[in-house]
Amino acid sequence: MTADALTDLATDVAAAAAGPYVPPVQDPDIVAVAGFKGGVGKSRTAKELAALRGAVLTDFEWDWGGVTRGWGYFEEERQKAPLLEAFRTGKTPSPLSGRGRKPDLIPGHTDFERNQPRAEVVAESLTRWSRELKRRLVVDTHPGGSESTYGAMAAARVTVVPAVLGDGELRALEGLLRSLTDYPLLLIPYKIGRSPAAWALDELERLANEYQAQIGPYVSNYTWIPNRRVRVPICSSPPSARSTPFIEEMKAVAEAVDSYGK
Ligand SMILES: Nc1ncnc2c1ncn2[C@@H]1O[C@H](COP(=O)(O)OP(=O)(O)OP(=O)(O)O)[C@@H](O)[C@H]1O
Ligand SMILES: [Mg+2]
Repeated sequence: MTADALTDLATDVAAAAAGPYVPPVQDPDIVAVAGFKGGVGKSRTAKELAALRGAVLTDFEWDWGGVTRGWGYFEEERQKAPLLEAFRTGKTPSPLSGRGRKPDLIPGHTDFERNQPRAEVVAESLTRWSRELKRRLVVDTHPGGSESTYGAMAAARVTVVPAVLGDGELRALEGLLRSLTDYPLLLIPYKIGRSPAAWALDELERLANEYQAQIGPYVSNYTWIPNRRVRVPICSSPPSARSTPFIEEMKAVAEAVDSYGK
């Protein structure tokens, strides 16, 4: 069994879907990246998608392992907390410029965990920010379900969910699918090895069919990615022999996001 079995699986699941989901028209749109399990690749995916599409990377993670510190923004060196300020005042935040090398950023903050507004407020705010900034937003969320994650997903035209094919990861994925039926989800098989286990592919197919979720193109497992310490996204860096396959896979994901429901 090769990873290409995943490509066939995506086609089969799409063919079995009851009817095409028609997401709300959004221009510019909001894309959320979410998952109930930590460490599955949400932040890497969000950062690369924002880079590929010139979107504003919006960080709802409150841990230090997210895109904000990875971007080079350190809250302890700053006077203001743009995300908290935006929700407190109701004003649209100004994204920090990545100067064309990194995505522009609405940085996350440690205190966001305790200061999250209700999901409806989060959803309404994101929609307004995107409209007023006239920019597409890619929202990276904290692992698990929380008001800010539900709000981002409610506002999003599509939510990208990295699906790692491990036992714990697939159970966490089922937890998400069970509690979030009716959301427009695009499952991205993620960190895929050369020969994904047949049971895991079967389980992914079952979940996608049972919960009517679409499966997009897969992204392989690259052992060099966790060791990469560069702030510039992989897709914005000069391609190398080792990064080119990743960039091609991410570009396919970006295309699947763009064409979702269209
Ligand atoms: N395609 C990939 N191949 C191999 N490792 C990857 C890949 N993408 C990301 N990683 C690594 O996996 C780990 C988790 O990635 P990431 O931080 O993007 O996940 P996350 O879902 O945002 O985590 P958290 O739940 O903590 O927010 C990191 O060490 C990252 O470098
Ligand atoms: Mg993360």
